[in-house]
Amino acid sequence: MSDVRAWRAALVHCLDDPARGGPEACVHHPDGLLLVEDGHVAACGPWAELGPALAADIPVERLPGRILSPGFIDTHIHFPQIDMIAAFGGPLLDWLEAHTFPAERAFADRAHADAAAQAFLDELLRNGTTTAMVFGSVHRASVEALFEAALARNMRLIAGKSLMDGGPEGLRDTVETGRDETEGLIRDWSRRGRLGYAVTPRFALSSSPDQLASAGEILRRHDHVWMQTHLAETPREVEAVARAFPDARDYLDVYDRFGLVTGRSVFGHCVHATDRALHRMARAGAAIAHCPTSNLFLGSGLFDLARARAHGVMVGLGTDVGAGTSFSVLTTAAAACDAAQMHGRPLDPLHAFYLATLGGARALRLDDRIGSFQVGREADFVALDPAATPLLARRLAGVSDIREILFALMVLGDDRVVSQTWLAGAPVHTQA
Ligand code: GUN
Ligand code: ZN
Repeated sequence: MSDVRAWRAALVHCLDDPARGGPEACVHHPDGLLLVEDGHVAACGPWAELGPALAADIPVERLPGRILSPGFIDTHIHFPQIDMIAAFGGPLLDWLEAHTFPAERAFADRAHADAAAQAFLDELLRNGTTTAMVFGSVHRASVEALFEAALARNMRLIAGKSLMDGGPEGLRDTVETGRDETEGLIRDWSRRGRLGYAVTPRFALSSSPDQLASAGEILRRHDHVWMQTHLAETPREVEAVARAFPDARDYLDVYDRFGLVTGRSVFGHCVHATDRALHRMARAGAAIAHCPTSNLFLGSGLFDLARARAHGVMVGLGTDVGAGTSFSVLTTAAAACDAAQMHGRPLDPLHAFYLATLGGARALRLDDRIGSFQVGREADFVALDPAATPLLARRLAGVSDIREILFALMVLGDDRVVSQTWLAGAPVHTQA
């Protein structure tokens, strides 16, 4: 017997990038029906069309005033930084030394990682994030703790152990231990439930050439794994990479020489990426994780989304917690709009919503599974409350235009507007 359930509420989702497909790429049903069968979308459309035909024994949950959206997708976040978010001080390399590395050392302890994993996933789901691509610490146990917790919740999550044989004292692996632990994690966890593995060289300054080469070899051995790293986040980092790899044409080329630029590679930041690098990423089908709250927090610079898109590179949104200042992909989307304004190239709210959902899914090559309400997609979704705060209620009173509603939810909202979250049709968070 299959499990069939329905929800009646407003619905919004993207079928394509509104910047390419026009406003019709974003579908809005003010009174809609979402039908879910065995954790997958079975139908999505106007209630007036689908409701009357619904079999009488199918339970319908009515959510008046709520907007159902596909769950948000965070394409770049650090699990072991949950306890040091909002630690003052930048720029990047100083912040890493002062706050990040000390916090990550604690993840050698499995009990610490287990407790943090529950808090981390709770926070993602409270914010409506149903899929994330996650950096673990250098310790294998940190990723095992996260995978175990995500598997128990049936969450779609990609993660990897940071490779950093050139890291600081107490946070270093070696080419051999990094390879063996990565292979072990892939063997034990990748493709279990909805888990995926990302080979994770932290960044060019923390791995030796031998370790980067080893990461490339691991990638070549497993066509189902991803690759995540950082690229051209700050000018000082870019200069240091140029000194460390004088033969490379630019920062991306360091990774490219080791086979790390592929259609399953996601590069965090890319604020200072060269035109050549953007062109190369587009050709390879690699994606950028745009992390605007982090870029502002560390003073890294303002990523030019329009420039990346003009090169044809796929882009998703990343919170980059703990340099990012919020777990909310909505808040991150608002910051992306701010950054675009500063470049004089405004980001349309529907496009920002696309980045938070289907765009993120595309960046992770998961758009055949998540990111929209198209039939067959996994039913990971959220209920948004446009009256979640007194200010939102005032601002949106009488507003019916979805573009205006979504923009206000991004600018004025965060976890408070996510009233419920479902994974594969099962409720996993309900706001108190
Ligand atoms: N580059 C290398 N490691 C990190 C990190 O943990 N956070 C950010 N924002 N950039 C990095
Ligand atoms: Zn990062």
